[in-house]
Amino acid sequence: LIEGATLHNGVNMPWLGLGVWKMANDEEVMTAVKGALGAGYRSIDTAAVYKNEEGVGKAIKQSDVPRDDIFLTTKVWNSDQGYDSTLEAFEASCQRLGVDYLDLYLVHWPVEGKYKETWRALEKLYTDGKVRAVGVCNFHTHHLKDLLAESKIKPMVNQVECHPLLNQKELHDFCRAEGIQLEAWSPLGQGHLLEDPTIKDIASKYGKTPAQAIIRWDLQRGIVTIPKSSNPNRIGQNGDVFDFELSKEDMDHIDALNKNERYGPDPDHFDF
Ligand code: A2P
Repeated sequence: LIEGATLHNGVNMPWLGLGVWKMANDEEVMTAVKGALGAGYRSIDTAAVYKNEEGVGKAIKQSDVPRDDIFLTTKVWNSDQGYDSTLEAFEASCQRLGVDYLDLYLVHWPVEGKYKETWRALEKLYTDGKVRAVGVCNFHTHHLKDLLAESKIKPMVNQVECHPLLNQKELHDFCRAEGIQLEAWSPLGQGHLLEDPTIKDIASKYGKTPAQAIIRWDLQRGIVTIPKSSNPNRIGQNGDVFDFELSKEDMDHIDALNKNERYGPDPDHFDF
């Protein structure tokens, strides 16, 4: 069902995963994760700050999918940034998730004056074999350049807000040139883009839903995407995107919707 992107260290990461942001109670997150695994998803994206790592871990254990078949991502929260505190946060996340390694560990936001120390900790975790890949989130090009100038290991992934109103073309070009895989959070614009007339028109031409058209647009751009849904039917729908292809014209139409408009905070003006 789901092919994968090859990260610059050779690790394979599924193109599509389940985002579990805003799923705060165990029941909700467990239903979603089990629904996703049942629908063929093999990638789950959580974060310490989502406060649902325990539920994610329990759902994985209760599923019949082996741990090694799942690509599991979590993130170090801003207040834990720094070298020692990141190493501790990593252990705490693994404990809550009930796993002894992670597939991807990410720096959640570029906290000024902290993210380089945090990155040193991720380099150590990677070198020690505790995590198969390391990366960042919400890094602008200038943050990446700053980090690359001093780091031994290049981030394998940059996960950012990315959807038709914020298509991140420049950042995507920069990341591609550096071998950094771009990953989209809130690919559906937190659900706001599902009523967009252009998206609706394009989707209906292919007999697909607006969500499926947007997810397909991500995949055809070479962007890993993690739509969030708590509803097993919608989770299944969002995963059912490997049997059609948007034409070049339709890709261009969706590209043209860009307005550099965010639903989430700008990483340069975020109150950490
Ligand atoms: P729900 O969890 O009730 O399905 P994003 O990933 O861009 O942040 O979007 C998440 C939002 O979009 C959530 O409100 C989610 O609601 C909604 N959503 C996700 N998938 C679909 C879908 N296939 N159809 C309609 N709404 C969806």
